[in-house]
Amino acid sequence: MFSLERVVPWGRSFREYLLFFRLTDNDLKKRILGCADGPAGFNAGLTAEGGSVVSCDPLYQYTEEEIRSRIAACRPEILEQVSKNRHLFVWNTVRSPEELGEWRSSAMRSFLADYEQGRREGRYCAAALPDLPFADGRFDLAVCSHFLFYYSDQLPEDFHRKAVGEMLRVAPEVRIFPLVDLNGRVSRYRDILAADLQENGFSVEIVTVHYEFIRGGNRMMRIVRKD
Ligand SMILES: C[S@@+](CC[C@H](N)C(=O)[O-])C[C@H]1O[C@@H](n2cnc3c(N)ncnc32)[C@H](O)[C@@H]1O
Repeated sequence: MFSLERVVPWGRSFREYLLFFRLTDNDLKKRILGCADGPAGFNAGLTAEGGSVVSCDPLYQYTEEEIRSRIAACRPEILEQVSKNRHLFVWNTVRSPEELGEWRSSAMRSFLADYEQGRREGRYCAAALPDLPFADGRFDLAVCSHFLFYYSDQLPEDFHRKAVGEMLRVAPEVRIFPLVDLNGRVSRYRDILAADLQENGFSVEIVTVHYEFIRGGNRMMRIVRKD
């Protein structure tokens, strides 16, 4: 069961999503599904630029106020953990845990400012992988940031397989970032899943991106259905 007390909301920005997924101007014209978007600024940013985007996350069963206070409650602990584990991160663009806190707060503020209106417009949908409440092919591209592969110690192989299969049911192309787990190790599921998908008629590419905050976490998986 998903519950607010157990989730640690922490969201990245629209600009970071552009880098994670190498989103081009052409991609931004597509109908995009963001899976496990949580309090990220992706939906708010893309909507402001006129894009078509739906985010899904079980977090969206909660109100803006509930999410806001959970973010505030979790923030000190997250930053303490980052400080303790500085060696796992690359400190060139973001120079300190304090600066990281500012970046993340700014992304989450843009999410919170957009959230209630976005919920009314159906842009924030309370749904949990591996089951999505969307028709086959409803989107052109589905992305997933810091959830699949990232929680390899918590989510089993079968969950990953079903979740990716479900994303490919609703979109012909899926991109996942990063491919490392919470400890910065390449996910134990990355190569198993890639081989499986290739055997089942999908093209799978591991693409290097121009973004590395988690040390070694600068790769994205791009999966495309071959017609
Ligand atoms: C680390 S956050 C990533 C947020 C955002 N994608 C980003 O990169 O900033 C992980 C998110 O996964 C969501 N989550 C947890 N279980 C989920 C599930 N079964 N399906 C989809 N999202 C889930 C959490 O609510 C949380 O918002």
